[in-house]
Amino acid sequence: MRKDPIRDPIRSVIRQLEPSGITKVTALGLGNPDVLPLWFGETDLATPPFIRKAAIDALEDGKTFYTNARGILPLREAIRDFHKRTCGADIDVARITIPGAAMLAVVTALQMVCETGDNIVIVSPIWPNIFQAAKVVGAEPRLVRLDENWDTGKWTLDFDKLFDACDDRTRAMFICSPSNPTGWTLTAAEQKTILDFARERGIAIIADEVYGTLVYDCAPHAPSFLSIADDEDAVFAVNSFSKPWAMTGWRIGWLVHPRSVEPAAAAMAQCNNTGSTHFLQYGALAALSPEGDAFRGTLLERCRGGRDVVEEWIRGQNRVRWLRPEGAFYGFLQVDGLTDSLGFAQRMVTDDKVGMAPGWAFSLGDKRDDSYLRLCFAQDPAKLEQALGRLEGAIRKI
Ligand SMILES: Cc1ncc(COP(=O)(O)O)c(C=O)c1O
Repeated sequence: MRKDPIRDPIRSVIRQLEPSGITKVTALGLGNPDVLPLWFGETDLATPPFIRKAAIDALEDGKTFYTNARGILPLREAIRDFHKRTCGADIDVARITIPGAAMLAVVTALQMVCETGDNIVIVSPIWPNIFQAAKVVGAEPRLVRLDENWDTGKWTLDFDKLFDACDDRTRAMFICSPSNPTGWTLTAAEQKTILDFARERGIAIIADEVYGTLVYDCAPHAPSFLSIADDEDAVFAVNSFSKPWAMTGWRIGWLVHPRSVEPAAAAMAQCNNTGSTHFLQYGALAALSPEGDAFRGTLLERCRGGRDVVEEWIRGQNRVRWLRPEGAFYGFLQVDGLTDSLGFAQRMVTDDKVGMAPGWAFSLGDKRDDSYLRLCFAQDPAKLEQALGRLEGAIRKI
């Protein structure tokens, strides 16, 4: 019999990780055909046929080998061209790495900038995977919450709060704009203020721009940090094929990093995934074609229609309000009287057969978020209306 205590082989931060609030809800009904699922950040459209065909053709053609771990060159060049034509940013291909999904791009950026004991200042409410990933790399996630401004109808970022949260151990500010879950979108002038502060303090910016082209008033692209940063600014911009091209299941995205980080990015791509799937990269390449641009336009209009459906529904409600999203495809709805968004969202799955994400999931225990629910409106309008009807019924029971 062994007498000495067995040492836990798992790092304590990993041991303490819990499923996110979204997972705690989806666990009750994922795959149940009776449940209308608006809980994930994805449209109900499948990836368009021309993208699927490009991947199938590549597979048939034997594109089944390892590639350069940073991605095939034609795809990196097409990403460079995409940035140029959507937000006017001139990015050298040396700054582009395709590690796998955008989630892996987030992790890669965090791994590159954080040591254990550092902190990362994150604008919230925020997609929970972000603060979970910060914990995984040993950093303390410090959330700075946007403020609701019901008078102007906008979420606002208090720069004093953001900058005051940074100290000597702050290695990066994580900013998702357009935001998941609020749709809040930074202006170029605000980005400049943040970049100036980051430069002065030697703090990196991890800019999550996966919803960059899903914007309603400043198409074709929300203001991007890439348009104002130079090659050597410590800006790490995360992007994804998932959202604008309906490719969430493909797990492919990219990271734009400073020029001189290229060797480290290459090493990280080796360590983390040794590249993304060979034939899928050809599907992604097709997404960046003119046909892909046209699809993005179609999806954006579908999202705009979904946003209108939710707005119209809210007009008929007396207990629900929102700050209308400027970008992304989420409604972050505040429900009067709601104080336990997780329990409520779970009951909605089991009793009302509709899946939404609890506001609770998007912060680290900030009570203000617990009166919110997030739904994805990139959906068929009839389905969306049906889901909102079910939500209305559930709210009546509070
Ligand atoms: C803000 C944000 N960043 C990153 C991602 C990850 O995208 P991907 O599907 O490419 O991993 C998501 C997906 O929901 C997201 O909402």
